[in-house]
Amino acid sequence: MSKRSGRRLAIAALFALTVSLVTAPMAKAEFGDPMRGQSLFVTKGCVQCHAVRGAGGRIGPDLGRTAVKGSFFELSAAMWNHSFVMDEKMKEFRLVRPTFKEDELADLLAFIFFLNYFDEPGDPRIGKVLFSEKHCIQCHSLGREGGSTGPRLDQLPRGTSPLRIAQDLWNHGPAMVPAIRRMGLDVPKFEGSEIIDLFAYLRSHGQRQVARDFRSAGDPGNGKRLFVTKGCSRCHAVFGKGPDIGPDLGRSEMRGSVTQLAGRMWNHWSAMSEAMGALGMAPPTFKNEELADVFSYLFITRYEGRAGDMERGRAAYQQKGCASCHGPSGEGIVGPPLKGATGGEPKERIAQRMWNHASQMRNHMGPRQIPWPRFEPDELAALLAFLADGWKTSPASSPGRGTP
Ligand code: HEC
Ligand code: HEC
Ligand code: HEC
Ligand code: HEC
Repeated sequence: MSKRSGRRLAIAALFALTVSLVTAPMAKAEFGDPMRGQSLFVTKGCVQCHAVRGAGGRIGPDLGRTAVKGSFFELSAAMWNHSFVMDEKMKEFRLVRPTFKEDELADLLAFIFFLNYFDEPGDPRIGKVLFSEKHCIQCHSLGREGGSTGPRLDQLPRGTSPLRIAQDLWNHGPAMVPAIRRMGLDVPKFEGSEIIDLFAYLRSHGQRQVARDFRSAGDPGNGKRLFVTKGCSRCHAVFGKGPDIGPDLGRSEMRGSVTQLAGRMWNHWSAMSEAMGALGMAPPTFKNEELADVFSYLFITRYEGRAGDMERGRAAYQQKGCASCHGPSGEGIVGPPLKGATGGEPKERIAQRMWNHASQMRNHMGPRQIPWPRFEPDELAALLAFLADGWKTSPASSPGRGTP
């Protein structure tokens, strides 16, 4: 077997583990298909330079570990800002710079985005230690060891997703937390990847072989409804829309996988249930895939990020030098007219056009001494908003242009 195909096998195995969970179609039309993105990651040659959690090339950063987190704008700004170095490396290794058509960039970004959603594989040996350290063992038994205040935890079906266990934990909070307090113990909290390791330990003890049916990454549309019906929206805003009893779940940094997020939600159990008590509401419980749905809603909302400010984008269009080649009103000079190309397009498509033309653009920039434009994520958001919708209106400051 050649070295290359060996590497591809490793990738396939790894991705099968993570992405097989994504089955539900995403509600947002523009949000790409992570499954297709996964295969593009290989066919477009990204994998030659980038690993995903250890499997793949070493020339660029590992996109499953260190890489950019955050919204579409953060991901695409990172790709854009690094594209100069990437291009140099591609030349060095005689790789063809990939271009994208149709929804390809959206799919690829959806894949990269979802890498953050799924857990790294947990370590059951660390989980075993945590099971004692966090005192679970005093109330729960696993195999021959442990207490009997709580139910046995070795009956979980092997295929149970970590998020399902987190959901069980949450649902039992109202009975479990008082029991923990009665024993004079601290309510357990989870740092870093502790919850993943702990659940890997529980899952490694699974008895029944038949997996409970849990395969999708959740349905964001349903999650959005549940966010209201379960009362989350009584305390949490998402990107500034809503109350401020709890943190804004759009803005508060949601580093980590979905299970880690569930762990963080659990960590706030005491504060949250007190706040709920004050509002006269009981802590909500979740069944089937409800918690997965809620989190997929929060994740997709984060992918969408905060829409850019069009007027700021108009300014960026001038400042970054776009206007000097494409014309102040997008009419085209050295570069083609943009109005018709980008007007009304989704942000993914516009970013894709920019990416595809980047080499040509650079060739024209050198002689004109225009520096390669770099973008902060919110600058890119603003610019894309302008390129999509800004042509219709003219700036308030320059009357006379654009009036019918
Ligand atoms: C020839 C090697 C090479 C190829 C092929 C390549 N990249 Fe890169 N990539 C790099 C290097 C090197 C960096 C880091 C650049 C820097 O430090 O400025 C990078 C950086 C990135 C970043 C930013 C990471 C961060 O943490 O900020 C993203 C995102 C990215 N690449 C995505 C892709 C995608 C998607 C593809 C496939 C379409 C791809 N790359 C193809 C070499 C490559
Ligand atoms: C002081 C005793 C106590 C401690 C310590 C404790 N639990 Fe529990 N746990 C319980 C009780 C009691 C229940 C059942 C609550 C109910 O019936 O609603 C429970 C329920 C659960 C459930 C739901 C089980 C099911 O069948 O749905 C999970 C999962 C769980 N605990 C995990 C843990 C983990 C992980 C730890 C350690 C981080 C832990 N528990 C620590 C007492 C405890
Ligand atoms: C009665 C108010 C209230 C309700 C209802 C509520 N929360 Fe919270 N939530 C809070 C508070 C307060 C905190 C912060 C607690 C702290 O600081 O310890 C919090 C924290 C969180 C966190 C951790 C955020 C972070 O940055 O670490 C998550 C995740 C979360 N809540 C999700 C939810 C979800 C999902 C729902 C609906 C099922 C929900 N909350 C319902 C008040 C509430
Ligand atoms: C130095 C001149 C130059 C500058 C500066 C420049 N471009 Fe371009 N741009 C071009 C050229 C030339 C093309 C056509 C490239 C090709 O055909 O591959 C192009 C193509 C494009 C396209 C693709 C249009 C289509 O029909 O698909 C977009 C979108 C675009 N540019 C956006 C921008 C933005 C946004 C900026 C500012 C950040 C910018 N350009 C700055 C020269 C430039």
